Amino acid sequence: MRFATKALRVGQEPDPKFRAVIPPLYQSATFAWEDLDHIPPVDYTRCTNPNRIMLEEVIASLENGRFGTLYSSGMAAIAACFSLLQHGDHLLMAGDIYGGTFRLGEKVLPRQGISVSEFCAHHPGTIADAVQPNSKMLIFETPTNPNLRVSDIAAVAAEAKKHGLIVVFDNTFASPALQNPLDLGVDIVVHSTTKYITGHSDVIGGATVTNREELNYALFEWNKAIGASPSPFDCWLSLRGVKTLSVRMKQHCSNAQAVAEFLLAHPKVAKVHYPGLAEHPDHQTATRQMKGFGGMLAFELETVADARRVAESTKVFLLAESLGGVESLVAYPPLMSHATMTEEQRLARAIPPTMLRLSVGIEDPEDLIEDLRQAIG
Ligand SMILES: Cc1ncc(COP(=O)(O)O)c(C=O)c1O
Repeated sequence: MRFATKALRVGQEPDPKFRAVIPPLYQSATFAWEDLDHIPPVDYTRCTNPNRIMLEEVIASLENGRFGTLYSSGMAAIAACFSLLQHGDHLLMAGDIYGGTFRLGEKVLPRQGISVSEFCAHHPGTIADAVQPNSKMLIFETPTNPNLRVSDIAAVAAEAKKHGLIVVFDNTFASPALQNPLDLGVDIVVHSTTKYITGHSDVIGGATVTNREELNYALFEWNKAIGASPSPFDCWLSLRGVKTLSVRMKQHCSNAQAVAEFLLAHPKVAKVHYPGLAEHPDHQTATRQMKGFGGMLAFELETVADARRVAESTKVFLLAESLGGVESLVAYPPLMSHATMTEEQRLARAIPPTMLRLSVGIEDPEDLIEDLRQAIG
């Protein structure tokens, strides 16, 4: 089966009793045992649940992976990956990374005796400089949040493998519709399913996908032990959402391209960050690596006051955290996704206070452009 078909059919056979086409919601904390000699396939919803199994199967198949595990949030999925590290281990984290991942690396891991160093995913050679004898894992993402830089996934993974690192990749921004990092040498793909996979801003969830059974087992065990499990209803909603991922992503990509081209031509816009623009420094890498350039973009105004004014004046774009839903959102990274960083840390990552991030939805592109035109003035 191909991508769009898999999204609709993998793990989703009609229910055996009534042949319901849409899987029923198994809103049950516990499942009855017939006797003590036969453990039921599902016994307790913290460990797993039928709705969760269906979603795990479909997300794994969309990532061309064998094993999927779901969590109560994207951060729980990232924390699960870090649970593979032990006291005394060292983690390499890309400098350009989602603020929540950075927070975990800066504030939580050191307390557990795990040290963290940065490397630059755009220059895989920096991995050799950052690696230490106790390095065990590397994590990166592309396109990056919020400045949309695109690094070469296969090159980073190959370099990390030379040093025996477990390679973790956050594919939230692109979604499996646009790139499949496991095919490029990554060991574990992470998703905040809150974003494109669910697509309707009504669920917080996370996923890991891997081809390595022993890694999946350790991730699953951690989740079961910690209890960062998704609810059946959230899995049911995400399963409904993922069915349309393919068509949604096409519209996100074409709307974002139209918005990026409008912004590029606007005299009051200082800079536009969208990998679909020929002017983007990573346009060629993105063209080679991605099936589309995605629905995320960032742009810079001349002054901080301008950025704040535009953020507060859009009407179709709602001023809100998060991304990947059908509705368009505008975000101000210093107070939202990257609030955990200091101004200095943000500037070192080319996230100036004049930057706004857009999650371009699937509305009529003319309405999005008109909205930005009136807000920028
Ligand atoms: C790239 C990326 N990864 C992970 C996360 C964390 O996901 P969640 O909010 O579902 O915990 C986010 C959230 O914004 C994100 O943008």
